[in-house]
Amino acid sequence: MLPPVFARSRRLLAHTLGACALLGSGVALAADKPLDVPYVPTPQQVVDRMLELGEVSQETYVIDLGSGDGRIPVTAARQYQARAMGVDLNPQRISEANENAKKAGVTDKVEFKQQDLFETPIGEAQVLTMYLLPRVNLQLRPRILEEMTPGSRVVSHAFDMAEWEPDARESVDGRTVYLWIVPAQVQGTWNVQPAKGEPFTVTFEQEFQQVSGKANVGGKEVELVDATLRGDRLSFGIDGETYEARVTDEGLQGAGGWRATKA
Ligand SMILES: C[S@@+](CC[C@H](N)C(=O)[O-])C[C@H]1O[C@@H](n2cnc3c(N)ncnc32)[C@H](O)[C@@H]1O
Repeated sequence: MLPPVFARSRRLLAHTLGACALLGSGVALAADKPLDVPYVPTPQQVVDRMLELGEVSQETYVIDLGSGDGRIPVTAARQYQARAMGVDLNPQRISEANENAKKAGVTDKVEFKQQDLFETPIGEAQVLTMYLLPRVNLQLRPRILEEMTPGSRVVSHAFDMAEWEPDARESVDGRTVYLWIVPAQVQGTWNVQPAKGEPFTVTFEQEFQQVSGKANVGGKEVELVDATLRGDRLSFGIDGETYEARVTDEGLQGAGGWRATKA
């Protein structure tokens, strides 16, 4: 029987039934751990769009969690000369993926590992791709937010990440593709040293990439206007003045010379 969560997506169910001999959840492999997701390949047209949405380039390191026959890492390497890695628990999928990498002439750029996606470090990836299940996406969500560098991208075929709204959502060939840009963490109070004038504080409330907040300028509290966060790029307005900054390990590096450190 299909996992109930698959049954929820009629379209995927149709593809699942049509496209694969089911290796469903709960089917134990030689490696002992049951698969968390059955094998269903992403259509090539959707793979192509996923990589475009993730802005993959020659400089990008792509990781595909649950890589199946390797089509996402192989396409990233072939189309963009990106470095890429795929992990899959099923040894048969790993053999297929290695065979496909050979055929595409990209064995110097891609590698496939037979390992659990939950045990796979993801912090080095600039683009993380997945075609998994809602439950699995949700289990990965805290790790994505913690381990991945702000500004790196996550592209998922078919399934979202619940309250974490995507930065883009597209329909491709009848499938939905989601993009998230990993946001920097700015929650809390910051001491701002402006390029000119008196220091003040700003306090951000943050939920994923949504930010809002208040500034305290000379004892007067004002709402921040149009506060936005995209990856490590933060901007907000105070009294008609726009503040833009990059969020770094050292603090906020503001355009025009202002700086802020965590209070
Ligand atoms: C829906 S398929 C996606 C394949 C490929 N990413 C694509 O989009 O064409 C999910 C893949 O995840 C693999 N998988 C399931 N559970 C896994 C786990 N815990 N660790 C690694 N791979 C897993 C399955 O063997 C399957 O190949």
